[in-house]
Amino acid sequence: MPPLEARVKNRIMKAIVTGSGGLIGSECSRLLCEQGWEVIGVDNDMRAQFFGPQGTTRPVVRELIETRPAYRHRDMDIRDRQKVRDLFAAERPDFIIHTAAQPSHDKAASIPYDDFDVNAGATLNLLVAARDFCPESPFCFTSTNKVYGDRPNFLPLRELERRYDYADGLDGIDETMSIDGCLHSIFGASKVAADIMCQEFGRYFHMPVGIFRGGCLTGPMHAAVELHGYLAYIVHCAVSGKPYTIYGYKGKQVRDQIHSRDVATLFLQFYQKPRCGEVYNLGGGRGNSISVLETIDALAQMGFRLQHEYKEQNRRGDHICYISDLRKLRAHFPEWSLSYNLPRILAEIVERNRATF
Ligand SMILES: NC(=O)c1ccc[n+]([C@@H]2O[C@H](COP(=O)([O-])OP(=O)(O)OC[C@H]3O[C@@H](n4cnc5c(N)ncnc54)[C@H](O)[C@@H]3O)[C@@H](O)[C@H]2O)c1
Repeated sequence: MPPLEARVKNRIMKAIVTGSGGLIGSECSRLLCEQGWEVIGVDNDMRAQFFGPQGTTRPVVRELIETRPAYRHRDMDIRDRQKVRDLFAAERPDFIIHTAAQPSHDKAASIPYDDFDVNAGATLNLLVAARDFCPESPFCFTSTNKVYGDRPNFLPLRELERRYDYADGLDGIDETMSIDGCLHSIFGASKVAADIMCQEFGRYFHMPVGIFRGGCLTGPMHAAVELHGYLAYIVHCAVSGKPYTIYGYKGKQVRDQIHSRDVATLFLQFYQKPRCGEVYNLGGGRGNSISVLETIDALAQMGFRLQHEYKEQNRRGDHICYISDLRKLRAHFPEWSLSYNLPRILAEIVERNRATF
């Protein structure tokens, strides 16, 4: 790809961000506006349809409209193929960040058509529109570690007092793990379809599409609900006194946490150094990994005792221990690094919740 300077044609750069009311989409919209971009945010608040009123992202969109003059909102459904084509034809964006999704592993089984239409079908709508109207513009797709299905659970594990870990000294899971022949959940399968389609547009049409397989993406702006947004939801329960349910694995299941700001800065790095159809595992890595029990301990140390109950049955296909190997990301984007460690992430989410209660 030509360097960034060659693509800045002495004008304000324009990005389309789908899911701009969501955790990642809103963070990307803020960062781009701060960096002088014009942002067209696309979000129809479908999150409220998926998860009920607590899941609404309307207030975030309102805040973007009121505080960022360079932000323009389109209350549009990305499943609407013609509207997506019309938008891309009219705007011809320099950069596309696609974060809109049905994001819940557990929810998908009860809404398989909506899940597939949003996660897979609408991603195809965006890819074809990008190919036809702005094929050279970098395109970031937020995939998920659920494309690996439950294969991470086949790794040898050891049980420690407060968490599971890999038994053989493995630091984290890299992009060579197979996505085939395992249990994915309906969500994992629809994201696999989108993930592979994004790779294909990168390879077949030589488009600069990056596929980022997220671990736990988090931050204070998550409209957290039980079925999506683990860390923000558990903090919300601890601060508000709401009971929390742990599902299986003795509460020792491990996730690596990355702050939405670090995701957004990475996407800007991809804009500057795009590659065609490249896949990356994206998370907080070992340093930002934490189990449910360890989260409860950390919150207690901050003065918040979580009321919780334990249910033996784990969520179907849930990972026991998932930590992203970040070596490929770091090698391709040496200027990028994590700026949020776990205490900082937790402190921010706690602060946001305290302000709300
Ligand atoms: N948050 C995580 O832990 C995590 C982990 C791995 C991958 N991901 C992926 O990252 C992406 C962003 O996640 P998030 O946590 O910001 O999700 P989010 O639910 O906070 O945001 C998604 C936004 O997309 C919007 N949306 C949904 N369907 C739409 C449609 N048909 N048309 C227009 N807008 C629509 C929703 O209203 C919502 O505001 C998703 O693709 C998700 O699968 C997230």
